[in-house]
Amino acid sequence: MYCDLHNHLLPGVDDGCTSMDETLGYLSAFRQDGVTALVFSPHLLLPELDRDGIRAELERHRTAFEQVVDAAASHESAPELRLGQEILARTAEEIEPVVASQDVGIAGGDALLVEFGFEPGFDAESVIRRVRAEGRRIVVAHPERYDYSGADPVESVARWREWGAWIQVNGGSLADLYRERATRVSRCLLAEGLVDMVCTDHHGDFRPHAPAMIAEMIEAVGEPGLAGRLMVRGPRAVMGRTATTLVA
Ligand SMILES: [Fe+2]
Repeated sequence: MYCDLHNHLLPGVDDGCTSMDETLGYLSAFRQDGVTALVFSPHLLLPELDRDGIRAELERHRTAFEQVVDAAASHESAPELRLGQEILARTAEEIEPVVASQDVGIAGGDALLVEFGFEPGFDAESVIRRVRAEGRRIVVAHPERYDYSGADPVESVARWREWGAWIQVNGGSLADLYRERATRVSRCLLAEGLVDMVCTDHHGDFRPHAPAMIAEMIEAVGEPGLAGRLMVRGPRAVMGRTATTLVA
């Protein structure tokens, strides 16, 4: 009954899957691995887009999503499919154009999946506080991969959670997919109880870790039942609320 909120399996819209066949193949594999709900999260690179560009990009995502839903309907097995985004925003100013928009959000809901990018100098506090001030929830993507400019990642993430952020770690980090530091930080965050969910961040062939393999890794480093909390209940909790109360 896993739920994956962070992946790049929507074809032809970012640096993830490049064809419908590839997408359908992964959807089938995810379903066989026990993933019953999947939210596509194509990149929305706010620093590179003006308001017209954001609108066009969201429309491109929607068109690709509708094509996948149509194709998956006649395919033998696929999870329940929803649409979201992975929003790149390093400052409150960068997230401002979408923070009140009902067109963005995980599965069309109130929660935003946000990444701070891999360069140092991002202002996590301003982004988190701006999203929370709008009455929305924020899920911070892969904190184990950021450059903290010498600050302690675990202490930083603990503060982000105090300010109301939810924390999403990549399954591949637990398996040393990126580099040793990401593995060390992700395991420290797990040990400190600072992780709310683990997702695949699957980019097609480029991210080879299957959901069932990730669940096994979580159970190997954490207490029994932890995979259920981080791959079922955590992701489903942020899908549960709609954005209908938001101002357009
Ligand atoms: Fe991603």
